[in-house]
Amino acid sequence: MQTIIFGGAFDPPHSEHVNMVREAVRETGAERVVILPTFVPPHKSAGFLSFEERVKLAKAAFCDVADNVIVDEEEKTRGKDNYASFLLPLMKKKYGDIAYLIGGDSLQYFDTWRNPSDILAVCPVLVCEREGFAGAEPLARETERRFGGELRVLRYVGKEVSSGRIKATLLLGESSDDIPAAVADIIRQDGLFAEYLETVEKVKRFESSELYEHSKAALFRAVDLNSAHNLKQNFKKVFLAALLHDNAKERPSVDGLDVPSDSIGTPVLHQFLGAEKARRDFGVTDSEILDAIRYHTTAKPGMTLLEKLIYTADSTSYDREYAPMPYYRALVDADFENGFCELLRYTFEKVKAKGRGVYPLTEEAAKYYL
Ligand SMILES: [Fe+2]
Ligand SMILES: [Fe+2]
Repeated sequence: MQTIIFGGAFDPPHSEHVNMVREAVRETGAERVVILPTFVPPHKSAGFLSFEERVKLAKAAFCDVADNVIVDEEEKTRGKDNYASFLLPLMKKKYGDIAYLIGGDSLQYFDTWRNPSDILAVCPVLVCEREGFAGAEPLARETERRFGGELRVLRYVGKEVSSGRIKATLLLGESSDDIPAAVADIIRQDGLFAEYLETVEKVKRFESSELYEHSKAALFRAVDLNSAHNLKQNFKKVFLAALLHDNAKERPSVDGLDVPSDSIGTPVLHQFLGAEKARRDFGVTDSEILDAIRYHTTAKPGMTLLEKLIYTADSTSYDREYAPMPYYRALVDADFENGFCELLRYTFEKVKAKGRGVYPLTEEAAKYYL
């Protein structure tokens, strides 16, 4: 009996995970599927759900992909060093004739995995391509040449689905089309991804619907850039900084808060006030989040990656369809750092051309980066 092994964080499992496994079963005729949720020690986790919650969701998501489906908790039992090269021999011992299923995007950095040749010595690897990541076939042959073993590219090509977007959508209190209905039911019943619902409701009270749509567009943009460029910024920080970046835009009263006096009465006031009001009205204490809000309009010299991410996501947010933003969006998509600098140059030149004074921080940022 052949068994397909499929691992992942499943935070949460989405429809494309399920489609991939279902198609792998169909193409190989495998009779059993073993789902292997990754275990990350709680103190290291940047995810939202506990191991137990992810196991529960995986059971619901994958229950009917084959006659025999097992969600195996081996990773938690082992606790650490959960590399495929260690786990697969264990899986082989437990389940016999196995094949290991991975996504085409994983194949692209397969050579950076621990002991690729050990993995391929244990069992064949099934590769499921994803739209936009074509070229798995030659890469599979190249990988075989380097590390031995057998890689088989499935005929099925998966749809591009972003886990980050799913998480952001759920955290905003909206439903996602990209998760199986059974998973959505558990998320609702168990109140998962509910930790920012109050924050979201408050933002909606403070922002007009147009501004809220912009905040959402900037948030999705930030989440996409974070994963597309592998910036590795903490998801919760990206979420909060982007969601709250304009929270003071339509609430300009200074209320005795600490903002630079030269910003009062100018368009840049809302970034300083936004940081202060995020602290006062939303209880945000994390200085990285507050600073990402504080400099999202002017920029400044020596910005952190999170600050650059929020600045860039705001300037190239998906609601900005007017010229020349699509051009800058493409620049940022091609190269994050270069795109950031070109945006800064554009903004700096635009403000200068208007004849109004350039805010000193922007002037300093331009000197620093350009
Ligand atoms: Fe803003
Ligand atoms: Fe904005």
